[in-house]
Amino acid sequence: MPAFRTKSPALLLAEAGTDRAGHGLRRTMGLFQLICFGVGAIVGTGIFVGLSDSVAQAGPAVVVSFVLAAVTCVLTAFSFAELGGALPVSGSSYSFAYAGLGETAAFLVGWCLLLEYGVSVSAVAVGWSQYVDELLHSLTGLSLPAALTAGPGDGGVVNLPAVLVIALAAVLLVRGVRESARATAAMAVLKLAILAAFCAIGFSAFQDGNLTPFAPAGLGGVGAGTTAAFFSYIGFDAITTAGEEAKDPRRHVPVAILVCMGVVTLLYCAVALAAIGAVGGDRVGGRPAALSYVVNEVTGSSVGGGVVAFGAVVAIASVVLAVLYGQTRILMSMSRDGLVPRVFERVSPRTATPVAGTVLVAVVFALPAAFASLDAVVGLCTIGTLATMAAVNVAVIALRRREPGLARTFRVPLYPVVPLLATGCCLYLMYETGGAAWIQFAVFLAAGLAVYAGYGRRHSRLARGAATPAGVAEKAEAAV
Ligand code: ALA
Repeated sequence: MPAFRTKSPALLLAEAGTDRAGHGLRRTMGLFQLICFGVGAIVGTGIFVGLSDSVAQAGPAVVVSFVLAAVTCVLTAFSFAELGGALPVSGSSYSFAYAGLGETAAFLVGWCLLLEYGVSVSAVAVGWSQYVDELLHSLTGLSLPAALTAGPGDGGVVNLPAVLVIALAAVLLVRGVRESARATAAMAVLKLAILAAFCAIGFSAFQDGNLTPFAPAGLGGVGAGTTAAFFSYIGFDAITTAGEEAKDPRRHVPVAILVCMGVVTLLYCAVALAAIGAVGGDRVGGRPAALSYVVNEVTGSSVGGGVVAFGAVVAIASVVLAVLYGQTRILMSMSRDGLVPRVFERVSPRTATPVAGTVLVAVVFALPAAFASLDAVVGLCTIGTLATMAAVNVAVIALRRREPGLARTFRVPLYPVVPLLATGCCLYLMYETGGAAWIQFAVFLAAGLAVYAGYGRRHSRLARGAATPAGVAEKAEAAV
């Protein structure tokens, strides 16, 4: 059946790099840029804004929540490392699912990636406003009008800073990948430095007593904290969307993913411990701009909090930039396959970037950023991301069976235990997201199936047996 037909790795690899008009992306990213890109995509709203929500649920045991969320992500990161090295194409999970699980599953994975990338850009941009306001306040003593810094769900009218950060990211992405990668690298180094300084300040005031009671809401609180903490790790897979713009993706993509996950996991646990150890879980839980508050309390001045707010503004902006980039590249792959309109695959010969697709994505996801509340979309982003991660873990197993000869520069250790365990962890965290997120997710999936039936299935180049572009068939032969 065409809907279950898989796309061969050879064809995926052969079609990579250009649109159907032959205009290509440029390979400009080395290992350092890929690692910075990963850190850029991961560290943002989740730790700077979401930490206080996770602490409100789990108390000091939030550290356990961060470790549990990291276990799911690290186990899954092995699968992304294997497939990112074997199939270095822009489509990430979508392309892996197309090769391993067939077209319908691939479309649904691509559809869910709209949650992981697109909707999370909106959510992350909403979180940006909080720290922009905090920064302005610490610099000038003034605050932005509430009506213009939050959507109706959060007591405002329109969230203008959230729209602004998406617009700035789109402008940078349109200008070129080299420029975006440089900006992301600078922002990643800066945010790591500021979070490291935060840890030093927090640990200087550390008191054991602040860690008790350790788990005031028991195991239930730890579980809820884990799903909240998971949002902070979303984005590590974005590295695989750079497969067509990395200089040596087969070697560098797997290394970059695993290095990023290691660094970020340690950092998050340290930040959570430092914050709670310094002032106690009660004063961190539920507090806006909590990290600035902790530094102000410890240092007795608002200067440190201002520096942290600056770090958050930079950090969150870099997540918007990197995740928006990922979304445009995934849609580009889907468009190349005919599953979404062709506007998303067109690469501008002048900038070597998908200009029209980038502008369209920015406009569409600026709307929820302007009007929605962060809480309303975080659950949906989380469940959608977990679903795509589960699919990638299953795709690793399917491809090992179907394509044993595929050149793999990295192999998941302890196969098949690790991908099976990773799938189980993803399913468990999906279960933990709660009834409301499940209902939203079911409606979202049903809409995805309708779009696939109405558009994707009919325009699929693979199902229609469309000829591959000139030269691709020969390249396909040579690619594996
Ligand atoms: N992990 C990303 C963030 O926390 C989505 O902002």
